[in-house]
Amino acid sequence: MTNIKRFITAMTAIGIMTSVSGTAMAADDLQIEHLGVTNTFVRVNGDDKYLMLPVQESNDDARINVIVDGKIAETIYVRLAKSKTDYMVPFDLSPYKGKNVILDVVTPQGRSSVREAKQDACWKGMVLVDPYRMPDTETKYRPLFHHTPLYGWMNDPNGMFYKDGVWHLYYQHNPYGSKWQNLSWGHSTSKDLVNWEPQPEALRPDGLGYIFSGSSVVDHDNTAGFGKDAVVSLYTSAGTNQMQSLAYSTDSGETFTTYPGNPIITLESEARDPNMFWNDETKEWNLMLAHALDHEMLFLTSSDLKSWTLQSAFGRGEGCQDGVWECPDMFPLTVDGTGEKKWVLICNINPGGPFGGSAVQYFVGDWDGKTFKADTDAEGKIPTKWLDYGKDNYALVSWSDAPAGRRTAIGWMSNWQYAADVPTTQFRSANTLPREIGLFKGADGQIYASSTPSPELLAMRDKLAVNKSGIKLSGKPSVVTLPATNDGICEILIDVEAKGNETVDMTLTNKAGDKVVMAYNAKDHTLSFDRTMSGIVDFSENFPAVTVSPTFEQNGKVSLRIFIDRSSIEIFGNEGKFSMTNLVFPNEPYSSLSVSSTGGNAKITTLRIYSLKN
Ligand code: FRU
Repeated sequence: MTNIKRFITAMTAIGIMTSVSGTAMAADDLQIEHLGVTNTFVRVNGDDKYLMLPVQESNDDARINVIVDGKIAETIYVRLAKSKTDYMVPFDLSPYKGKNVILDVVTPQGRSSVREAKQDACWKGMVLVDPYRMPDTETKYRPLFHHTPLYGWMNDPNGMFYKDGVWHLYYQHNPYGSKWQNLSWGHSTSKDLVNWEPQPEALRPDGLGYIFSGSSVVDHDNTAGFGKDAVVSLYTSAGTNQMQSLAYSTDSGETFTTYPGNPIITLESEARDPNMFWNDETKEWNLMLAHALDHEMLFLTSSDLKSWTLQSAFGRGEGCQDGVWECPDMFPLTVDGTGEKKWVLICNINPGGPFGGSAVQYFVGDWDGKTFKADTDAEGKIPTKWLDYGKDNYALVSWSDAPAGRRTAIGWMSNWQYAADVPTTQFRSANTLPREIGLFKGADGQIYASSTPSPELLAMRDKLAVNKSGIKLSGKPSVVTLPATNDGICEILIDVEAKGNETVDMTLTNKAGDKVVMAYNAKDHTLSFDRTMSGIVDFSENFPAVTVSPTFEQNGKVSLRIFIDRSSIEIFGNEGKFSMTNLVFPNEPYSSLSVSSTGGNAKITTLRIYSLKN
């Protein structure tokens, strides 16, 4: 469904790389000179744009100094193939067009002779191409309507802004492999939050270090002096220590210039993931920084986005303290029904999530432009609140300048516990579905954040494949077949009613015997999600899990909106009052949904299943 998908399926099934590397290439354009048992020079002389590098996942990193006209321009780390090539990655030569480029490669493995080193698969596989083409080797688990990088590792979403009808999404990216390394800002754009266009890498590591997470704003009033409506991004430069740097774009986020005065913020202790916004009440810029190891957020202010003053801190000893605090976000919202204005402070934490590993914690409170004051409960304590009750929604942050006052957010759909071990190779990780954040008052008087699927997702609906109502659950389980279109990707809308001690099981199954059990418990007012038998689960002991969410109702009724997209299941309950995002790796697509109950009164009031368009 995404353009990424169409792009990749447009390629021939057998690696185009293989055919390209099999054909004669101008020997003069690419010269490989072995200099020692671990050192090789790759000289590039031609005008091609990409040098394809063969990668073997299980190998250790080779260090490659890219020497341009005699000077080191950048250093990258690549698991260059030794005995076999798992996949290829493109090294973009366009910044060095017309110059002398040498890749000074130091391989990690011990060697007895240069003759042995010459046998490595990577030397034969390197090829110059323009443009590059790659077969999609991940058709089983690459989602169809979630954002994924074309190839390589991805973690946090970064620097998102909306401008001129385009949603910009940057992300923590390793362009040279599927493990955390070479952190850069990858870039994708979308006009509808469903179809994503891959864009060239936006920020690559520089002398100050890797490009870690950060945020972007559109500087409408040219406060920074880079021009009216320039896009200004702050990110963490992660070198020996972490500091904050600035980059700006005068072409709406397509290309960035790094600010010569970087870093613009240095502190004596580790702080990262700058997230800023324009405060229209105080008429200045506000910024949050994660004071990761101190488990708190720092607040700063500025008039020009370049010079920042530390104002206050929030969080030490509050909420969940079991992990580092990362990736802050903060925004005002109106509470549904009451009209009250409250601020939501997002504090992603890792580990310490309710089901282990990483999770999105948040606080509701007030912000006066300098200090954040969190709401307390009846006992005067600041309650711990979670935005999602699955295992796979982390580093969630929102778009700046979203239209119509929307607070649209997206998370990284994985968990640091096993993100590097999930059974995909060419790419690792997708983002969650985009969701609209709101506020509502719970029965306990507390204000909670809601997450509802972004309205654009309605356009994906194709055929109404199942449409039933009044299903009694007193006898045998009721079984419906899921649409087979696009490997069973679908949207399920199910309204459940139960009483007393009754539970209602909603089980997804396939012919391989995999199953996912979603169970509503009317007494406890909870929904659980059991993926212990969901398919491939043994790649990490932390993957098989049961996650449980409060359903925020008192009347025995839950309405669920469930999105299945090959390797993920996202549940939005009771108009977004709770959400649950979980990865699954079924051996084959789930093909049926069976519903049953422990009691005689429970029923499914309505069940609708839509196939989704490709
Ligand atoms: C969160 C995080 C951030 C950091 C980035 C590095 O997942 O640890 O704090 O900026 O990932 O990739």
